[in-house]
Amino acid sequence: MDFHFNEEQQMMRRMVRDFANKEMAPFIPIMEETEQFPLHIVKKMGEMGLMGIPVPEEWGGAGADFVSYILAINEIAKVSATMGVILSVHTSVGTNPILYFGTEEQKHKYVTKLATGEYLGAFALTEPHAGSDASSIRTQAVRKGDAYILNGSKIFITNGGVADTYITFAVTDPGKGARGISAFIVDKDTPGLTVGKKEKKMGLHGSNTTELVFDNAVVPAANLLGNEGEGFTIAMANLDKGRIGIAAQALGIAEAALHYATEYAKERKQFGQAIGKLQAVGFKLADMATKAEAARLLVYRAAWLCSKGLPCTKEASMAKLFASDAAMKLAIEAVQVFGGYGYTREYPVERLFRDAKITQIYEGTNEIQHLVITKQLLAE
Ligand code: CAA
Ligand code: FAD
Repeated sequence: MDFHFNEEQQMMRRMVRDFANKEMAPFIPIMEETEQFPLHIVKKMGEMGLMGIPVPEEWGGAGADFVSYILAINEIAKVSATMGVILSVHTSVGTNPILYFGTEEQKHKYVTKLATGEYLGAFALTEPHAGSDASSIRTQAVRKGDAYILNGSKIFITNGGVADTYITFAVTDPGKGARGISAFIVDKDTPGLTVGKKEKKMGLHGSNTTELVFDNAVVPAANLLGNEGEGFTIAMANLDKGRIGIAAQALGIAEAALHYATEYAKERKQFGQAIGKLQAVGFKLADMATKAEAARLLVYRAAWLCSKGLPCTKEASMAKLFASDAAMKLAIEAVQVFGGYGYTREYPVERLFRDAKITQIYEGTNEIQHLVITKQLLAE
């Protein structure tokens, strides 16, 4: 057993930590107040090679391993959960589906631009009536000559309105359920595609979450990803890896909550002593640290399995389930340690509290993670 990150992974961690503290942290108050998308930071991340960390160099990426990529999301999310999800969606489900299922031509056309940060990626699966039950989507794609005509709508799309490409799922063979779904690479300026309502959210301010409307949208047949009917498998296979990214985002939130709570407990005095010396507060910190450590082990074990090309569906879901619950619990406890100050926007724990909640919901709610883990257990 070896619980150490190698030199390359440690370098990635140092570089990203430094970048997040210097470049991202100062922009958080602006994102919180105005919900402005941090485009200039995304561009800088592209220049630094962070928009294609696990993508091979031949396709414009950094060619690093999956653990390095997860370390980067973890470090970014400690500072900004918003930036964490922008990067995770762009890479895990916005770029990887083309890398793994695309033709050489599609990889040349799209992956090279996504991995360098010239393009921003997004993933459009969820529909107004089809969230957890993803195979019940209704957006239709009908082949007409050299194109597919798409009709329907998507909701809650991260990077919506700012992305250049949307990996979009639509029904090509109604009545076949999951096997009737296909995946498409949809360009942002596709005729018939419009960006609809932008959600006003509890947290993740600065991350765009929008509706997409397809009204006779014309998508070239060359942009079909994989074969007709393979779409649902493409979605699920990439969500496996995506869930490790969201788990790393949740871990970052949990670690930040622990850090701020511990520092505050050392400084804040009541009854003539630092509150951390009060057993009720000290034990809270001990529980928080234990949960964060357990989450860290699950997240990096899942990432390690994935980096070795080993099956990781169950472990990814376990990591996402545990780390997101830990993030929520630690954020709640951090607010408690800060007392009344924790409830104000003067201190970061209030933001962590709002950002933590979504990690239990997206890329499959934690109830859905239970379903995935159960299914895997019974199949073993
Ligand atoms: N890898 C590859 N293929 C898989 C798979 C996996 N992990 N899981 C399922 N499949 C395949 C199955 O093999 C099956 O194929 P066959 O019929 O050929 O055997 C097919 O997919 C259907 O599988 P199921 O019968 O298990 O499908 P289901 O309808 O019961 O749904 C589910 C399973 C796990 C509940 C799935 O619908 C699901 O994951 N729901 C949650 C949706 C979700 O995670 N959405 C995330 C949107 S993106 C997002 O949210 C981004 C963000 O946060 C920022
Ligand atoms: P529902 O499926 O309606 O679930 C409602 C409740 O019922 C939940 O508690 C759920 O766990 C429970 N439930 C449902 N089915 C079961 C079951 N079988 N067993 C037990 N409990 C069940 N989607 C994308 O495609 N791309 C994105 O980029 C994206 N980004 C997002 C960003 C944000 C900020 C948000 C809020 C959502 C995003 N989503 C995205 C959508 C997200 O993945 C869905 O919201 C999520 O999968 C849940 O679907 P739903 O909201 O329709 O809830």
